[in-house]
Amino acid sequence: MTREELQEIAENELEAREELDHLIFVCNAASCQSSQGLQLIESLKSGIEEKELGDTVEVKGAGCMGLCAAGPLVLIEPDGILYTQVKPEDAGEILNHLESEAVERLKTDLEMPFFGKQVKIVLENSGKIDPEKIEDYIAMEGYTALNRVITEMSPGEVIDVISDSGLRGRGGAGYPTGLKWSTVGIAEDVQKYVVCNADEGDPGAFMDRSVLESDPHRVLEGMAIAGYAVGADKGYIYVRAEYPLAIERLREAIKRARRLNLLGNNIFGSQFSFNLEIRLGAGAFVCGEETALLASIEGRQGRPRPRPPYPAEYGLWGHPTLINNVETFANVAPIIRNGAEWFASIGTENSKGTKVFAMAGSINNTGLIEVPMGITLRDIIYDLGGGLPEDLKFKAVQTGGPSGGCVPEEHLDMPVDYESLKEVGTMMGSGGMIVVDASSDMVSDVAKYFVEFCKSESCGKCVPCRVGTAQMYDLLDKISKDEATQRDLDLLVDLCDVVRNTSLCGLGQAAPQPVLSTLEYFKEDYDAHLQKATDKLTHAVQREE
Ligand SMILES: Cc1cc2nc3c(=O)[nH]c(=O)nc-3n(C[C@H](O)[C@H](O)[C@H](O)COP(=O)(O)O)c2cc1C
Ligand code: SF4
Ligand code: FES
Repeated sequence: MTREELQEIAENELEAREELDHLIFVCNAASCQSSQGLQLIESLKSGIEEKELGDTVEVKGAGCMGLCAAGPLVLIEPDGILYTQVKPEDAGEILNHLESEAVERLKTDLEMPFFGKQVKIVLENSGKIDPEKIEDYIAMEGYTALNRVITEMSPGEVIDVISDSGLRGRGGAGYPTGLKWSTVGIAEDVQKYVVCNADEGDPGAFMDRSVLESDPHRVLEGMAIAGYAVGADKGYIYVRAEYPLAIERLREAIKRARRLNLLGNNIFGSQFSFNLEIRLGAGAFVCGEETALLASIEGRQGRPRPRPPYPAEYGLWGHPTLINNVETFANVAPIIRNGAEWFASIGTENSKGTKVFAMAGSINNTGLIEVPMGITLRDIIYDLGGGLPEDLKFKAVQTGGPSGGCVPEEHLDMPVDYESLKEVGTMMGSGGMIVVDASSDMVSDVAKYFVEFCKSESCGKCVPCRVGTAQMYDLLDKISKDEATQRDLDLLVDLCDVVRNTSLCGLGQAAPQPVLSTLEYFKEDYDAHLQKATDKLTHAVQREE
């Protein structure tokens, strides 16, 4: 494959699109597939055949368009009409209206803030290409960044661009990506590895799954660029087995990229070779922790080990290993294509670029969004999210999953970036965002829920986490059942401190966070339970008397 051949594939694809009067994209990512998305594609295809529109209209299965709860979604181009909650039986009506007014009852306003306030880098192709066709990705400048780094840049120059862009890891902790790449880059070893962390175990999070289902080549291209930059010729993508569609599309993408020599040996006729393999995780949350993940790839039990040494120095089979999250890799090709300055101009001083969030809970527009760092939580919830459903009053927004915390109303105008979220007792995490309304009890619906998750996902290697999360859960259970005293609550606070400070890995270290943040902002929910316990006791004593 040469640059000219890559360009030719792109031109052919774009020309084929231009010859059409209409291109119909139907979301066939997992959520829309589960609401008859595939049947809808079939109905549209047979409608086109029946009406003999084959020369002028094409239907493409595409990736996620964001409004997942209102799926399946259909986008008609070039008119830019978006239909939601489309049923297979709507196909005929949609086709009949291609040359006239849109079908009003299905139409959604593309001007609404949900779409207008998003800035798409990671999701730039989501919903606009067929993820199973490599030509579609190439038509969107796919693999041009890989071509550029291999043919025009030294590995050091690539690392400089990533460093200058300010990109930070999207897997949760926000570690500077360029710094990690340069640590692996300067490590001396004949064998190095690149690993993509696609374990995504946070409850309610589906950002990484969506990227893999909607645009898998962007992750492969980012990994190959990373391989070139750090001097690795081998990579692994660690995906949880519960993501069958993402795995299928990744497999297909790797096969097609290999066929075009965009992966494999001597890519673009150069000395650079990069081979990728998929490894499946069995759905243990702790396997997302980097050292546990590497142990799992090596075929050992997926349990964390103390760091240092960090994987960048001592990773897979003892060799330097670069491990990044799906979304981190997905940002790489656009940064190379558009330059470090372009990326650094988006976001805030210390948090550059965008972040993909999965919005869930008491919110009107449940789904996937990509927003510039620095946007306020209020903008996300009320503009993009469309606010809470009628009659529900906002109470908090939970970010960062089991390692995160709750943000109350008073902090909604704070910018969303790594440091600001930490300041108010939560964290960016991988991008799960759950809106909690006033009818929720923060003890049982939030704190107890997440502690139960950590308790059952604890690998058991260290006592503070194994025993501590179980005891935290028991205390929360007692409080939520109105059976606890102030002494139990004090014990819970002490336990949080011990578990946080003495656990071996991030799971145990962060497990107390949902408890501490609900205690800080919603102490009245705890007090109400203690009060009810006192009342129960008083009544019991009175009855006995
Ligand atoms: C319990 C636990 C689970 C984690 N799960 C994930 C995960 O599913 N995906 C991920 O990218 N990072 C996860 N991480 C963070 C990884 O250990 C690691 O920091 C990350 O993959 C590095 O990539 P980044 O620099 O691109 O963020 C987890 C960490 C802990 C402690
Ligand atoms: S903190 Fe928990 S999950 Fe992490 S090593 Fe210890 S027991 Fe395992
Ligand atoms: S899965 Fe179809 S819009 Fe998200």
